[in-house]
Amino acid sequence: MGLVVQDPNVGRNGAGAAELVVVANRLPVEHDEVEGWRRAPGGLVSAMDAVLRDREATWVGWGGHPADDPDAAAGGPPERVGTVALVEVPLTAAEVTAHYDGFANRALWPNYHSGIVASTYHRSQFQVHREVNARFARAAAGVAAPGAVVWVHDYQLQLVPAMLRQLRPDLRIGFFLHIPFPPLELFSQIPWRVQIVEGLLGADVVGFQTRDAALNFRRAAERFADVALTAEGLAVGRPPRPVVVRAFPIGIRAADFRALAEDADVQRRAKQVRADVGEPDVLLLGVDRLDYTKGIDVRIQAITELLLDGELDPAGTAFIQVAPPTRAKVEEYQQIRAEVELLVSRANGTLGPLGTNPIHYMHQPMPPEELVALYQAADVMLVTPLRDGMNLVAKEFVASRVDGAGALVLSEFTGAAEQMDRAWLVNPHDIEGMKRTILAAIHEPRASAEARMAALRAGVARHDVHWWAEDFLAAVRGAAAVPGEDAGGTDPA
Ligand code: G6P
Repeated sequence: MGLVVQDPNVGRNGAGAAELVVVANRLPVEHDEVEGWRRAPGGLVSAMDAVLRDREATWVGWGGHPADDPDAAAGGPPERVGTVALVEVPLTAAEVTAHYDGFANRALWPNYHSGIVASTYHRSQFQVHREVNARFARAAAGVAAPGAVVWVHDYQLQLVPAMLRQLRPDLRIGFFLHIPFPPLELFSQIPWRVQIVEGLLGADVVGFQTRDAALNFRRAAERFADVALTAEGLAVGRPPRPVVVRAFPIGIRAADFRALAEDADVQRRAKQVRADVGEPDVLLLGVDRLDYTKGIDVRIQAITELLLDGELDPAGTAFIQVAPPTRAKVEEYQQIRAEVELLVSRANGTLGPLGTNPIHYMHQPMPPEELVALYQAADVMLVTPLRDGMNLVAKEFVASRVDGAGALVLSEFTGAAEQMDRAWLVNPHDIEGMKRTILAAIHEPRASAEARMAALRAGVARHDVHWWAEDFLAAVRGAAAVPGEDAGGTDPA
């Protein structure tokens, strides 16, 4: 299957003209039968969308549907979204099954998220995964101008940096992993650990969400590749080539969230949300893709126990759990959906007199205005994943609380916890501890609660998505321009 090149910037002599190329598994748009081409889901797209808003760039990615699906959108994605030219890498249904549903989401995703569910490794899937990565590398090589910066994203495309370097040694290549990088004992289980490490080491800069993830990768590289540790990262091969390895914690579009939160319609809607769920004394909120990594089940269990024990009043408490569908073809996602839905209906069926349904579960995507209204309506936001690379919901909630109120309960096992230590940190495996912390967050006196939120809000505003992207791009430009020197800046707090 050939590459569909729709970028007007593509040069005629084979080399491209794009000075900045983003390579990600998904394009920033996906096709919906009703809405047409709309924004694709996930934190990666949301972050890069903001970063590229006023920047000329070319985005290489998959359109979100199999190219040989008879229902696939005729004509492919739009040529551009704002300043960004789109280049689609089509995948057949068989490739989507093997590369995306299979290797990326049943081998890599669970392994990188602490093995919460078991990974399954299939040689045939890795084969397809490698071919798909090669196609992405060729597409990027075809559109990049001489000496261009190419920014490769996430676990689905870890083989791309080395493939790209081989095709185009002139390029400056950055790779950023949006999810955790596992400890050595876990990573070592992957049959293709050497290929993955070598793939990533093709970049000039390999960026992670946290210092722990960067450390884990340095250990994996030391074990499985020909590298020497340096102050900035690694020296790779002979003669040694420097690779910067460090944390670049991703931020959010803080100003956009603040602006939405200040919008009068959104504020009216926030009041209406509380009315819609019966004007509770306490409104708890969870917002997560319906993923087994997010700890939605343990959160529901903790709240249900508090309601059953009478520590929270079923008539005065509402819990809204927004959990949009995700990766619905993957078995483990079907299982977590069934579990969550059983827990919700069990809890509501058991609790309270007629008319009391404390848990409001919404299995649907949510537009940003509605999301911010929910953030503003909540008393306590529950972000309790078992493992998460960063978790942008925690930051979005904080940025949306322009009223200074609200409380954030945050899992220690998120990247966000490294920066947001003024949140109510919890271990989601410790259900009693979580229950105690939820109660403490609900009952905290107003002055100290506001002090926490003010500190959190200042951090989220300062270390926003633009700060993150500038830091990363400066590292890529600097690292390649002055070989042997780290231009990575200071390690962020
Ligand atoms: C996470 C990953 C992204 C991914 C997103 C949505 O944020 O880090 O790479 O795009 O989830 O998942 P999906 O499988 O729908 O692309």
